[in-house]
Amino acid sequence: MGIMDKHKILETNATLLLAGSLVVVSIGGIVEIAPLFYLENTIEEVAGVRPYSPLELAGRDIYIREGCYVCHSQMIRPLRDEVQRYGHYSLAAESMYDHPFQWGSKRTGPDLARVGGRYSDAWHVDHFIDPQSVVPESVMPKYEFLLDVTLDGRYIQELLQTHRFVGVPYTDEMIANARADFLVQADPDGDWSGLLERYPGAQTRNFDMAPGISEMDALIAYLQMLGTLVDFSTFEAVASR
Ligand code: HEC
Repeated sequence: MGIMDKHKILETNATLLLAGSLVVVSIGGIVEIAPLFYLENTIEEVAGVRPYSPLELAGRDIYIREGCYVCHSQMIRPLRDEVQRYGHYSLAAESMYDHPFQWGSKRTGPDLARVGGRYSDAWHVDHFIDPQSVVPESVMPKYEFLLDVTLDGRYIQELLQTHRFVGVPYTDEMIANARADFLVQADPDGDWSGLLERYPGAQTRNFDMAPGISEMDALIAYLQMLGTLVDFSTFEAVASR
C-alpha cells in the first residue's frame, strides 16, 4: 500500500481525520504556549527594574482609578517613528510588576511609558490643574481636585501585600516598612536612607510643593519614575549580545 493509499484511509474517515488534526494542532499549540507558563523564560531580567515604591504604587492606583489609560498608552513599539518620538522601545521587564499592565493602544494623548523626567513637577501640577493653560489645544480634563485629597497611607501595607499575592516580589521588610516609606518619600525633611535601600533610584521630594501628601504627590511620583529605571546607555538587548 502506497503512502497515498494510507492517506486515503484518513481522508475517508471523518472521525479519524478529526482526531489526527487535533493531534497535529496540539503539538504546535504546546510548543508555542507552554514556555509562556514559565514567565522567567519569557521576560528577560533587566538591571534597574524594581517593584514600585509605596507612594509610586499609590499614584499608579490613582492613574487607574481616573482612567488615564483611556487616553494614554504605556508601551513604545519598536518602530522608528515611535522610538524617535518617545525614546527606547519598551521592554517586557519594564512592566513585569504591573498588575494590571497599562500598555494600551488608545492614544488620544501621548504615550507615557517614558514621561518620567521629561517635565518638572511644577509643569505637572499646572498641567493637572488646567491642561489648557500649558497646552492650549489639549482635550485633557482638569484634575485639580487631586491636590485637595490627602493620603495617609492607611491601607498601603495591604496594597503591597495584594501585589505580593499576585507575584510582585515585595519582601517582608518592604511590607513592614510600607507606611513609613510611603510617608517619607514626599517629605523634604525626611530620612530617606531606608526607602532608597529598598527602592533604589526612588525620587524623593515634595512633588506637588504643597504641605502634606496629596493624591497629586502620589500621581506625580508615579509619572516621574515611568521609564526611568533602566539605564539605556548601558542596556544591551539579548539579540545584540
Ligand atoms: C480625554 C483624554 C485624556 C485623559 C482622560 C487624560 N489625558 Fe493626559 N493628555 C491628553 C492629551 C490630548 C494630551 C496632550 C496635550 C496635553 O499635554 O495636555 C495629554 C497629555 C498628558 C501628559 C503630557 C505628556 C507629554 O509627553 O507631553 C501627561 C503627563 C498626562 N497627559 C497625564 C495624564 C494623567 C496622569 C491622566 C489621568 C489622571 C490623564 N493624562 C488623563 C488626554 C487625556
